[in-house]
Amino acid sequence: MSVFASQRPDVATSEVVKATLDWASLPFGYQKTDYNLRYTWRDGAWDDGVLTSDEIIPLHIAATCLHYGQECFEGLKAFETRRGDVVVFRMDENAQRMVRSCRKILMEPVPEPMFIDAVERIINANRRFVPPYGSGASLYIRPLVIGTGPQIGVRPASEYMFIVLVTPVGPYFKTGFTPVDLVVEEDVDRAAPLGVGDVKVGGNYAAGIRASVAAKKRGFSEVLYLDAKEKRFIDESGPANFFGVTKDGQYVTPASPSVLPSITNKSLLTLAKEMGMRPVQRSIGVEELFDFVEAGCCGTAAVITPVASITHRERKVVYAKDGRAGPLTTQLYQQLRAIQVGDVPDPHGWVRLVPTPHE
Ligand code: PLP
Ligand code: COI
Repeated sequence: MSVFASQRPDVATSEVVKATLDWASLPFGYQKTDYNLRYTWRDGAWDDGVLTSDEIIPLHIAATCLHYGQECFEGLKAFETRRGDVVVFRMDENAQRMVRSCRKILMEPVPEPMFIDAVERIINANRRFVPPYGSGASLYIRPLVIGTGPQIGVRPASEYMFIVLVTPVGPYFKTGFTPVDLVVEEDVDRAAPLGVGDVKVGGNYAAGIRASVAAKKRGFSEVLYLDAKEKRFIDESGPANFFGVTKDGQYVTPASPSVLPSITNKSLLTLAKEMGMRPVQRSIGVEELFDFVEAGCCGTAAVITPVASITHRERKVVYAKDGRAGPLTTQLYQQLRAIQVGDVPDPHGWVRLVPTPHE
């Protein structure tokens, strides 16, 4: 058990009676759980955090998160294993990325041990919402940092709040592991090369939301952004990184300063190497989309969502001609999922057991 948790009367969880939910049909959406967790940074220090069932936060009307976008978040998942343990996938990576996000927009970073403790604490407090093994669902954990101190001049806040909420979820793309149609976005930029696209700040999503909504109206599941400078290279999708598989079975994914470094993609680069796919991260010209034989979106929420087709102007490339994901994409997906739920050995130490408060 973590040092922090032992000092607090958090919720005991030895006998967990699951919430009554249709676990196998959960959407990727917000569902109220028992608790969220809130920490305040004030006068140079983070407090010990409080668990609350209140879904509302009291906020100063001049808080910097409201006016100047001082906000960043993370997304990670907890899974129940076959033997009933709860495990979290690569949360140290999320903790480190959140430090980078905070630093980039001059917010107070959450130290990694505090982040990890908060995640374990909030899972234990909401253990009955961890979807059962085999349901295909997971407990999505959403940590966020906001500037709460008031400023009217454009300056960093003097106070911050770190909030962690959880919600049980199904697949982000409602088709799950069924291939989706994407469209190359040429009229909207998500992030600039020297901007903040490489960190997980809310403004990046605000920048892309109109592109995503317009694409959905046209029948696509999401957009694929181009690099904002030259408009020649693939960046990523709205909520996920992108990868393609070449004719000779190579895993290729964009290298770009405006793409969010995805923990899922980083994991797939490792798995692809172990599968002999000679993974490479490099610039991918739009034209190259037409040479791939398989493609996918990857991320915590998306897991791997296979791509059925990509439309670029008047042209369309179809990867999933029979409506099914390609063999290498499928193999990667199965291996990733098996590691995440503890079905296969975890040689890289990606999966971490969440100790109950009694252990
Ligand atoms: N790209 C964007 C823009 C995202 O929002 C996400 C989700 O976190 C990802 C990529 C995938 O990152 P990760 O695999 O770390 O969840
Ligand atoms: C995630 O995959 O965790 C994300 O944050 C993507 C989000 C847009 C749902």
